[in-house]
Amino acid sequence: MLPSIGNLRPWEDPRINQINRLPMHATIFRERRQSLDGEWSFDLFSHPDDVEEQLLRNLNSERTVAVPGNWTMQDTGDFPHYTNIQMPFSGAPPNLPKRVATGVYRRAFNFAKEFADSQVVLCVGGAESVHAVYINGDFVGYGTDSRLPSEYDISSFLVAGENTLAIVVMRYSAMSFIEDQDQWWMAGLHRSVYVEERRRVCIADTVCVADFDSRTKLGNLTVTTEVRFFGEVSAGFAVRTKLFSANQKQIGKTSLEVVPHNAEQPYLFAGHKTNSSWTIKNCAAWSAEAPNLYQVEAELVSPSGEVVDSVKQKIGFRRVEVKNRQLLVNDKPIWIFGVNRHDHHPDKGSTVSVEDMRRDLEVMRRHNITAIRGAHYPNDSAFYDLCDELGMYVVDEANIEGHAFNTSICDDSLYSSAFVERGARMVQRDRNHPSIIVWSLGNETGYGANHDALAGWMRRTDTTRPLHYEGAIFHGDKNRISTSNWVDGGLRASDIVCPMYVSIDAIKKYGESGRGTRPLIMCEYSHAMGNSNGSLADYWRVISNTPGLQGGFIWEFKDHGLRQQVDGKTRLAVGGDFGDEPNDRSFVADGLVSSDCEPHPAMHEVAWVYRPITAEARKIGSRTKILVTNRQSFVGTKKYLASFELLVDGVVTKRGTLPAWSVAERSSKLFELPCRVVASKQSEVHLNIFWRLKSEHWYAPKNHCEAWDQVELQQKPRAKPQAKQSATSRAKKTVGDTNKNLSKFENMLIKPLELCLWRSPVDNDGYKLMPELFEKQGTGSQAMQIWHKLGVDNDEPENLVNHNVEREVSADGRDVVFAHRVVVPKSLKDLPRVGVQFSLPVGFDRVRWFGRGPHENYPDRNSGSMLGEWVSPPDSPPYLVPQEFGLRTDVRWLELHSSNPRQKVRIEVLQPSVMHFSATNYSAHDLFVAENVSDLVPRKELIVHLDVAHRGLGTASCGPDVLEKYRLNSGEYLFSYRVTVG
Ligand code: GAL
Ligand code: MG
Repeated sequence: MLPSIGNLRPWEDPRINQINRLPMHATIFRERRQSLDGEWSFDLFSHPDDVEEQLLRNLNSERTVAVPGNWTMQDTGDFPHYTNIQMPFSGAPPNLPKRVATGVYRRAFNFAKEFADSQVVLCVGGAESVHAVYINGDFVGYGTDSRLPSEYDISSFLVAGENTLAIVVMRYSAMSFIEDQDQWWMAGLHRSVYVEERRRVCIADTVCVADFDSRTKLGNLTVTTEVRFFGEVSAGFAVRTKLFSANQKQIGKTSLEVVPHNAEQPYLFAGHKTNSSWTIKNCAAWSAEAPNLYQVEAELVSPSGEVVDSVKQKIGFRRVEVKNRQLLVNDKPIWIFGVNRHDHHPDKGSTVSVEDMRRDLEVMRRHNITAIRGAHYPNDSAFYDLCDELGMYVVDEANIEGHAFNTSICDDSLYSSAFVERGARMVQRDRNHPSIIVWSLGNETGYGANHDALAGWMRRTDTTRPLHYEGAIFHGDKNRISTSNWVDGGLRASDIVCPMYVSIDAIKKYGESGRGTRPLIMCEYSHAMGNSNGSLADYWRVISNTPGLQGGFIWEFKDHGLRQQVDGKTRLAVGGDFGDEPNDRSFVADGLVSSDCEPHPAMHEVAWVYRPITAEARKIGSRTKILVTNRQSFVGTKKYLASFELLVDGVVTKRGTLPAWSVAERSSKLFELPCRVVASKQSEVHLNIFWRLKSEHWYAPKNHCEAWDQVELQQKPRAKPQAKQSATSRAKKTVGDTNKNLSKFENMLIKPLELCLWRSPVDNDGYKLMPELFEKQGTGSQAMQIWHKLGVDNDEPENLVNHNVEREVSADGRDVVFAHRVVVPKSLKDLPRVGVQFSLPVGFDRVRWFGRGPHENYPDRNSGSMLGEWVSPPDSPPYLVPQEFGLRTDVRWLELHSSNPRQKVRIEVLQPSVMHFSATNYSAHDLFVAENVSDLVPRKELIVHLDVAHRGLGTASCGPDVLEKYRLNSGEYLFSYRVTVG
């Protein structure tokens, strides 16, 4: 061995993926394993060159940090840094900044064993960004790819008794340029570390290919087991392989195959590998709906008959194909009810435990999410075990994103081996997982030769899964951005047309064109930043009815806020809150659930849009029937108990169960109405259908309602406005400025009823924390800026629009009818809202209404909100960055209740038949000036909005703005309502 290679700085060289790292293989659990998780000695330097050699064998340190963990989350003085596209430092690849924070981790461990017939392997689960390993001061190896494990043979470095392990982690490296995902830059050993003892002849890898033929119900399995000899190769070893069912019954034969041991016929020698295969009848196939697992057990038997190593692998029989513009699992198309998921924890950063992962999956599945794109890197393999067992479809994505240099790095040969190695190692580790149905080549790295190289490797190595890469269909083969790439661009690298943030019209056009061979599944859509996810139901109306479209993955599951103490207060930090520059502020808070996994209101819409069973009314002659569709591909409806409720004017008048309502997979069936409709012609009548779990499931208790629909059976005749219409003259401040003839209601207000056109912009109206982003990046909506320019935020509404109001107060003052006429000039179209607001005094703490609820909903996000009578206290602000919240749409009447003193204000909508309201303890101004929800102080009074029109939410923070039909037009708005105080 050469004494030293000297002057080697692998972290600066993108061609060096590893030194001395062992080959990747499927995750194999061995009992002779010693966890090294816990507190490690830790010192931090500004550059790898500053680390002194003697430190590598020295356990004394200034402090300790926890492994697994990000040192950036552990008070080391080195903080998380958030950027989206841009790199956290300047310069082109592979140039690094002057400061490259370098953490030196050390700990002692004992290895008293006699190592003669063992090999000791160190496994580093994940280190950001790159790492070097030392035992007792000697260099062992070097590894890259922060999201896959690295193994090293440390046998020859060990001494009997205590050994010192040092792992030096560089926060930035040449590889940072291909780990430029939109997330916090962290640092450290963020996944587990352990040492494991293996025999000198051991199982190196097991590859299980389990296919299912839906026609014959035959399962075909081949198991290839590779054996590694450390040292001399000897004859006489064999691999004994068995297959077991879920309940531990052995199926079929026991296979015993001799391990090829020499290379006498080098031309034919295929490695120390054995192959066995099984064909099983009546195979229980794997799908996310029925995650049937089997188990393969392979034993390595020595010439003397001793079992020297063994492997257990859970497997699932299934076939995944792309055929006729459809992604098929076991020959059936599936819906991709998906989300993108990052590893995130508000206190631990990118370190997540198995319990954390399981919690994410529970919350997802409870909201009918059954597909996950692992954005944008492989997870810990425990995550895929959970998905196999619980039933989730997964897109496994290679840890490759060169967003900042996306069109150059993909063709840069300095990085080609890194591309291939990252994708190849992912496939080698994860290919036995049935839940993984698609490989992804990474995210947002242009499209170039490096991708084709990786795609070639993947296609050849694993013929059982399609490939997915958005860059291929975005940039196309000629590097020309056009939707014609969807038809025939990037075919080498993507079997799926997987665009991001595209419009409903665009996907519809692709679907209807019938062109191309690939299904369209959006890799990202419906950007969940703040109060968002408008038009989710509109997307799915088109997806469900257009061939070639199969769904997509919402961006994204969870906010990435990080818990931080500032001036004795706790808040969830976003970019810049750690003094990190440059940064992209709150763009990191764009999840369907909070950083703590609390569902945002949009999750109710997701649950509804992704529901497994739908029901709709169908007129058959003069009769109304109910068409029920089971959207599941493999199972019927027997896990659910169907039930109904008949609602007359929001009140349940009949209810019952529907035990006979069952529908086979992927089919529809017509049912008679479950009851007679008895109601006056003046009433509105709705039928609710519910599908509840008959028993407890891993994600939800018995009776959990997994799907529901509400069908309108009778409409109310339109009410006539009761106050007479006013003339068109301009009436400034007609309300509240005169004492004569004030109703009881007006007398009790602490802020008078007045016209309101403003809402605190949602992120989709504009990024209030980074208004410059629109200019810089062209992303986001301009609505907020336009409103500011027009003075919608500050000006008296009556200076902007023409407003008349007529009041009619009853003799006793208990009743007042307001009739408004608002004329919005052309220059002011696309306003946030048209309505009124007023404030009720302290004590009003409960709202009852008949409209959509119970949770927050907006005109383009209210399909998942049922019409009914609801009661609720005022909402708390649900979003990390304060913005408009708490609306309820399609409201017929509402009551505001005070418990002390006992009082009630009832508002009946007269014209049009429904309006929207919100009742919170925050004004639009309070919400707008606050940067973080922790800055908000609730007011004592109740601020009530009543809107005749309210702009939809859209998803313009990244994607299409509010659809035309959910925007406010210029022209005349007439609305009236009666307020009664009791
Ligand atoms: C996409 C990207 C995601 C995320 C999202 C915006 O372009 O793939 O990683 O940045 O936009 O939140
Ligand atoms: Mg990106």
